[in-house]
Amino acid sequence: MRALLLCGLVLAGCTAAPPPPAGGPTGQALYRSFDPQVDALLAQMTLAEKIGQMTQADQEFLTDEAHIHTYALGSILNGGGSDPVTNSREDWTAMVQRYQDLASQTRLGIPLLYGVDAVHGHANVVGAVVFPHNIGLGATRNPDLVQEIAHVTAREVRATGINWTFAPSVAVPRDDRWGRTYEGFAEDPALVASLGEAAVRGYQGDDPGAPDRVVACAKHFAADGGTTLGTGITLDGVDYPFDRGDARISEAELREVHMQGYVTAIAAGVATIMPSYSSWNGVKASASRRMLTEIIKEELGFEGFLISDFAAIDEIPGDYRSDIETSINAGMDMVMVPARYELFVRTLTELVEDGSIPMSRIDDAVRRILRVKFAAGLFEPDWSAEPLHVAAFGSEAHRAVARQAVRESVVLLQNREERLPLAAPLGRIHVVGAAADDIGIQSGGWTIDWQGATGAITKGTTILEGIREAAGPGTEVTHSADGSGAEGADVIVAVVGERPYAEMFGDDLALRLPEEDAAVIATASGAGVPVVTVLLSGRPLVVPEVFEASDAVLAAWLPGSEGGGVADVLFGTFAPTGRLPFTWPRTVAQQPLNLGDADYDPLFPYGFGLGY
Ligand code: BGC
Repeated sequence: MRALLLCGLVLAGCTAAPPPPAGGPTGQALYRSFDPQVDALLAQMTLAEKIGQMTQADQEFLTDEAHIHTYALGSILNGGGSDPVTNSREDWTAMVQRYQDLASQTRLGIPLLYGVDAVHGHANVVGAVVFPHNIGLGATRNPDLVQEIAHVTAREVRATGINWTFAPSVAVPRDDRWGRTYEGFAEDPALVASLGEAAVRGYQGDDPGAPDRVVACAKHFAADGGTTLGTGITLDGVDYPFDRGDARISEAELREVHMQGYVTAIAAGVATIMPSYSSWNGVKASASRRMLTEIIKEELGFEGFLISDFAAIDEIPGDYRSDIETSINAGMDMVMVPARYELFVRTLTELVEDGSIPMSRIDDAVRRILRVKFAAGLFEPDWSAEPLHVAAFGSEAHRAVARQAVRESVVLLQNREERLPLAAPLGRIHVVGAAADDIGIQSGGWTIDWQGATGAITKGTTILEGIREAAGPGTEVTHSADGSGAEGADVIVAVVGERPYAEMFGDDLALRLPEEDAAVIATASGAGVPVVTVLLSGRPLVVPEVFEASDAVLAAWLPGSEGGGVADVLFGTFAPTGRLPFTWPRTVAQQPLNLGDADYDPLFPYGFGLGY
């Protein structure tokens, strides 16, 4: 409402942003179709207002909320772990509303694009449904399901007044030792291209301004999943071997392997793209005119805008002034600053005033940002749409979609003597491992906190709770975190796996179980009871002891909040259909190991998955 009123003051005919008529422009043409309104608005903007639009601050770093108004900021984000003081849907909504109110009081009243990492559901918000991470969705091979998941996520995001998710990742992780492997759908570019496109369609539909859709962001362009061992970032004296590293690959490999997801996402109309922290042959993506302007915009015909990664331009060699100059001139449109936004605004202003950055580049950036704002329906009176989705947020209906995703994501790797499905009558099932009863572990990184966290961090059903429900009244279900107490049970279900991590901290050269969980397997396997193991991990692990000790092994990835889906597979309510989205190596020395490699000798090949 405020936006419309204020917009009316300055722009005759500003209401001319109705949702696109059926049969109207879609894909990238949608954004261009708003150019008449955009150009009229652009013509009235001062340099300060234009630079404001190009600036994205993290709400956590606002030294004064009024700066949204002072600098006419174009966008706010909540980066990982940047939550309102108490984390509830209501508090998120109130926070967003407060910031939008400040934006509406600026001279032009241009609403904020408000970004969040809803990368597996709106998982920063307590009570949202948490879906499997993309690696699990890759195992489903089901684009319709991925599209539905993104649509449900869009509704949950809109239930907090937010209009933009930094998803999907269309990374093609090639070396599973990279800590962001689970954010990718698969090692195979064709599968990434298909599921990435489905996700964009689910988030945005044909009309990202529809009340049940959000603006999507394909990330991180490109070859974030193709960095070379030993080239990653060093932070506080710690070397991360892959993350933010250098992809030393030919342009042919860049295109054939790492760009495929962008081609389909752009065709599906993705509104924003995030250039990667990583480099391509020594040049940071954020600094590469070749990548940002020549390839993404000129060649692939992208008409939306580029949003930098979190302080990513700061990692371009040189001082901050030259970082800004290089990145904006390379084609970056909006900068996720996220903290020193006052310095950013001041420096970018100087760079334009002294001619280091041409005004035409600023106008191109702002035009692209405003196109997306119009397409996102932000100039409509009812842009928030929050009330429409309150009841559906975290609802049973949404949880049912997630549970189905979990069922379809589980890959049965081993099933000696057809130990699975668990068949009645079972007197006692002994569940072991701390991970069996831990929503945080089963959800992984990017859940409530940036790196994720262990424990009862949000609502949902743990795998243990799912087993209790599925087992029914005739079967006793016992649990021990350390693996003890199995004697006399009919079967052991061991739930073991990686502890939550996200970018940087997940880089791992060993790909082993944590010691605590290796001990659980050792203890459990000494009890003389058949063992079924559920592996929770963001990638294939090198765990010969698990395959040795277990009759059956299920790879459940990072299933999210609906642990009942794992139980459905254990009990055969749902027979497994999941297929490996990543090659499962025999040894860590085989990494990187991918489908099509010359000396391909995996433990389980890409696409492997047993049924009942
Ligand atoms: C990550 C992005 C994320 C951004 C905002 C960065 O550190 O690389 O994937 O969208 O933070 O939270």
